[in-house]
Amino acid sequence: MSTNTELIRASYAAFRRGDIDAATALFDPGIEWTHPDGMEDYGLGGTKKGIDEVRAFMARARTVFSELRQEPREFLESGDRVVVIGVHHMRGARSGVTGTVRFVHTWRLADGRATHFEDHHDTYDVRRIVDAGDAAHGDGADSPGRIVQTGLAFWQAKTLHTAVELRLFTELAAAGPLDAGQLRTRLGLHGRGLRDFLDGLVSMGLLEREDGRYHNLPGPDAFLDEAKPDGFIGGLLEVASQQWWQPWSRLGEALRTGERQNNVHGGEDPFTALYSDPERARRFQRAMTGGSTGSIAALIDRLPWSEHRTVADVGCSEGALLSRVLRAHEHLTGIGFDLPVVEPLFGETVAEAGLGDRLSFQAGDFFADPLPQADLIVFGHVLHDWDLETKRMLLRKAYEALPDGGRVVVYEALIDDGRRHNTFALMMSLHMLVESSGGFDYTGADCRGWMAEAGFRNCYVQHLAGPESMIVGIK
Ligand SMILES: C[S@@+](CC[C@H](N)C(=O)[O-])C[C@H]1O[C@@H](n2cnc3c(N)ncnc32)[C@H](O)[C@@H]1O
Repeated sequence: MSTNTELIRASYAAFRRGDIDAATALFDPGIEWTHPDGMEDYGLGGTKKGIDEVRAFMARARTVFSELRQEPREFLESGDRVVVIGVHHMRGARSGVTGTVRFVHTWRLADGRATHFEDHHDTYDVRRIVDAGDAAHGDGADSPGRIVQTGLAFWQAKTLHTAVELRLFTELAAAGPLDAGQLRTRLGLHGRGLRDFLDGLVSMGLLEREDGRYHNLPGPDAFLDEAKPDGFIGGLLEVASQQWWQPWSRLGEALRTGERQNNVHGGEDPFTALYSDPERARRFQRAMTGGSTGSIAALIDRLPWSEHRTVADVGCSEGALLSRVLRAHEHLTGIGFDLPVVEPLFGETVAEAGLGDRLSFQAGDFFADPLPQADLIVFGHVLHDWDLETKRMLLRKAYEALPDGGRVVVYEALIDDGRRHNTFALMMSLHMLVESSGGFDYTGADCRGWMAEAGFRNCYVQHLAGPESMIVGIK
């Protein structure tokens, strides 16, 4: 018969694989599941009773942390108790910040079932991860460690970019687990620095190592394996590494001159540069789609689609939003509007979605052409690419194209009205500085103002997912 330690060890291993059923198989139906009271601010404190409450706790945890993984390091058994000392690897869902927090877990078992579990950890450490955007303006910013970490954050970014460019996650998905020697051969590497590279990824919660062999964690396996094109977001990281890295290194020049810094490609606008390499464009658009998955799901739930019959997505790229919305709401027809060069990409998505003539493509240039006639018009990650005059012009054109009662929906990373919390959106706006001629991100209040100027009424802002929100107006 298994010892209590073996049972608990197997439960951690099942959690790490994402197999919640196996992980909770050991739990007594009336298990008492306790976390520090300080976690109650996130809905995760105090004692839960019974497996249903534990599962609800886990679902809640997945909204607070986009990644949460336990690394048990020591197991101590005494009588009916098992004490586990280890480390939580976490990434704050809102902040996107990763970090580790030490824990002590106490388990009590009876007849091979866990009847009590308590997690002891320093909730201050958790706050620094979950609320990192806020901490940057609070006492966290006083710490030299935090300043140094922020200053050198590009080390982590380049480590991840390089892992994608070397196809590490794809190789591990196909052939893992592999040890460092096997990876050296398969990826064609020298060997010097390789263990630091791999273990650095482990420390960031992007890779797992067991008994000296590396394998993918569920998140990177779903999103960084090229063989899973529906989830793959590595294309975005490749573009970040190959196309955005240099302009960002000239941020100071951009701030001094107001000029974009990507003229290395001969001065053409970013979309011309992107579309000059069709395969890169395809991977980039897939990646944009992958990054928008959460927002698209929220849009499907949160807009009153039953009040509409036709939806136009302006700057639709490959048409992921439309195909998902139309599959979820069968009464709708959709029009994707984008530059002619995008049509083949859009065609692929439509063919895959099997929506027949409910979904069509209208090639056009929103500077020169009117927008498609529809009773709901969406702009997803479009307005921030352009200067204020273009933003206003696009909203005016949407107003002209909509019937009375029609809706305009703008969605992207939105700077909070106080301009102090949504770091991702503020960085996105700097990205527009270095990448575009006049683009910038904005707050919900800004956009509601522009919508009102164009004639829209009842304008409101609603959060979608992660750093993204939508602004809705009615004609
Ligand atoms: C950043 S992408 C956003 C794509 C998509 N809506 C999403 O959220 O993933 C901007 C889109 O605007 C399109 N676009 C750029 N200039 C355009 C123009 N002049 N007329 C129409 N579409 C344009 C691009 O081709 C691209 O698909």
